[in-house]
Amino acid sequence: MDSHMVRERHAIRLEDTDGSFSCYADETVLKAMERAPGFGFAVTSGRRISVGCRQGGCGVCRVQVLSGAYRTGPMSRAHVTAEEEAEGYALACRLYPQGDLTLRPARKPPPQKTTPQTITTDPKA
Ligand code: FES
Repeated sequence: MDSHMVRERHAIRLEDTDGSFSCYADETVLKAMERAPGFGFAVTSGRRISVGCRQGGCGVCRVQVLSGAYRTGPMSRAHVTAEEEAEGYALACRLYPQGDLTLRPARKPPPQKTTPQTITTDPKA
């Protein structure tokens, strides 16, 4: 790498935590979070971004960007709808900072299990 090139770095903060980690503009927030010393800060505070497939497929790393500029890679509409994307929701493994960011973990709750309904028919009716 050219020693004159300086990779742009930004500070990533989780809402309601004191810690932050730095993320290059050309890497994903999830990757930077896993590389960061003190990765556990968010875990011990009870606020964390979950790590799953790291490829945009599972949706567990979903966050809401509360402030800061960013861009995203392709995201499945199963995990982030167009409306949610407009409100700042993104997958951390598809999120590239363009400035310092403040994030709120926003993992979707698992889908509700529906109780199968039993339909009875009265043969005499
Ligand atoms: S870790 Fe699976 S979608 Fe980001």
